[in-house]
Amino acid sequence: MKRNLASSLLALLVFLLSCQPPRSAADYTPKAIGPIGDSAMVAATHPLATRAGVKILREGGNAFDAAIAVHFALQVVFPEAGNIGGGGFAVIRESDGSIASLDFREKAPAGAARDMYLDENGDVVQERSRIGHLAAGVPGSVAGMWELHQKYGSLPWADLLKPAIKLAYEGHVLTELAAHNLNRAQEAFKTANRFVLWTVNEEGWVEGDSSIQRELAATLSFIQNNGRDGFYKGIVADQIVKEMQLGGGLITQEDLDAYEAIWREPTVGIYRGHRIISMPPPSSGGIALLQLLQGAERFDFSKTGHNTSETIHLMTELERRVYADRATYLGDPDYYDVPVNMLLDPEYNEERYSSISRNKKTNSTEIKEGKVDIIESVETTHYSIVDVEGNAVSVTTTLNGYFGCKVMVRGAGFFLNNEMDDFSAKPGVPNQFGLVGAESNAIAPGKRMLSSMTPTIVEKNGRLFMVTGTPGGATIITSVFQSILNVIDHGMSMQDAVDAPRVHSQWLPDVIVSEEGSLPGDVITGLEELGHELVYRTQLGKMNTILVRPDGTYEGGSDRNRGDCYAEGF
Ligand code: GLY
Repeated sequence: MKRNLASSLLALLVFLLSCQPPRSAADYTPKAIGPIGDSAMVAATHPLATRAGVKILREGGNAFDAAIAVHFALQVVFPEAGNIGGGGFAVIRESDGSIASLDFREKAPAGAARDMYLDENGDVVQERSRIGHLAAGVPGSVAGMWELHQKYGSLPWADLLKPAIKLAYEGHVLTELAAHNLNRAQEAFKTANRFVLWTVNEEGWVEGDSSIQRELAATLSFIQNNGRDGFYKGIVADQIVKEMQLGGGLITQEDLDAYEAIWREPTVGIYRGHRIISMPPPSSGGIALLQLLQGAERFDFSKTGHNTSETIHLMTELERRVYADRATYLGDPDYYDVPVNMLLDPEYNEERYSSISRNKKTNSTEIKEGKVDIIESVETTHYSIVDVEGNAVSVTTTLNGYFGCKVMVRGAGFFLNNEMDDFSAKPGVPNQFGLVGAESNAIAPGKRMLSSMTPTIVEKNGRLFMVTGTPGGATIITSVFQSILNVIDHGMSMQDAVDAPRVHSQWLPDVIVSEEGSLPGDVITGLEELGHELVYRTQLGKMNTILVRPDGTYEGGSDRNRGDCYAEGF
């Protein structure tokens, strides 16, 4: 049955209004429980990607094998953000409790320069870092998946690409959302490319149309047969380099040769007795999340209640301080000495939060011209997986904007990222998420751009408790924060924690972003009386999460009302 987008948005609105959780944790009874798996669970942004992961798990693969299958399947069925032309981060917890994190973030090409997006007057030319070849960083995803397999894989690499190749070769049916996303990028596809892409359709895409991607199937087959080298060397690498040369981009064969995914020490902290395992720099996600959680421990949100004006005010006050730190101190640790210990020091945060008043908002110190309009773009993607042994993996991956820089590598069938926009092109000038930055995140050759991606795993009593993450640019950190509060402080089921209306604040611009129609009038009035300005967006985030229930079974929580997200367990 076809639904038009307006009716989908109306359904989301009605749904958000109908799922107002009780204000206090003591009154809570679950409204919705997600799918339950006795032994394993996969939650991803498209049912066909989820099923690719479930298939691998059923064939005896572990969570890491399944992650690789999901990753490549997302490239086919969710080209908005699923990718081989982008990058991401993975947080890992093995069944024996060992933890790790993998950085496969894109890098600035060697030819990149600090002022490459400034015009002769020193002003930022925003289009240059967002659309077209110059916006692309050196992709990291295939190196990341290869590295994950080298360290943790149990099934042969070639088997893990089979579901994606089948989907690309035989085709799949577009959802209404997929058709809508393709339609809204039509002009950009034409502007950014020298040839006609399969994604261009003058009549407009509709739900039920078929997407067959034979060039992509061939590219995936090279990767299937040659592993990492199937992307960074040979035919596919030649196609990327040629695309760059003809389109005025910077990525060279030397850049592809030099790319490495890096194992990093996860960022770890404690929240109300739970151990939080998250992503370290070059993502700001883990540090910002732990700073927020340190602040949250000062308050009793189970008493102030879920999404009351008091709770939202206090969360906002924490967020404005943490995002101010993010703008100043966070960047690629291989290029900039990120003061991790200071930022996670309880005394430092105690001091930062001591000025919070329950009765009045604090003004963000300096309001710049941050525009939040584009916050609505949520086209990063996240998947969470737990296998039959209890291994867990939380992966967030992205092209940055939806369909990245909108450039498809000719003959290879995949889009390149526009991750260069995540650098601070000029101190104080906001990027597409309204985020400002400083020296720590200035452009330099070979440097990784700062991210907000926050793939996270939570332990309780030394055992796996929760796997969480979401897309949403700057809003990723606050959505993950709320998913944790919803479960730990408000006692919600995983599905209710995901369904609950979300809010977001990020220092600059000095506003609270709320999902349209989701907050009751008295909460809005209460926030306005405290001095807050609210702005509204259709939705925030598209979460894919897993909760371990007291009986040891898994509950998947997926944003089925905010996207095509889908969890399946067995
Ligand atoms: N491109 C969004 C992020 O990495 O935060």
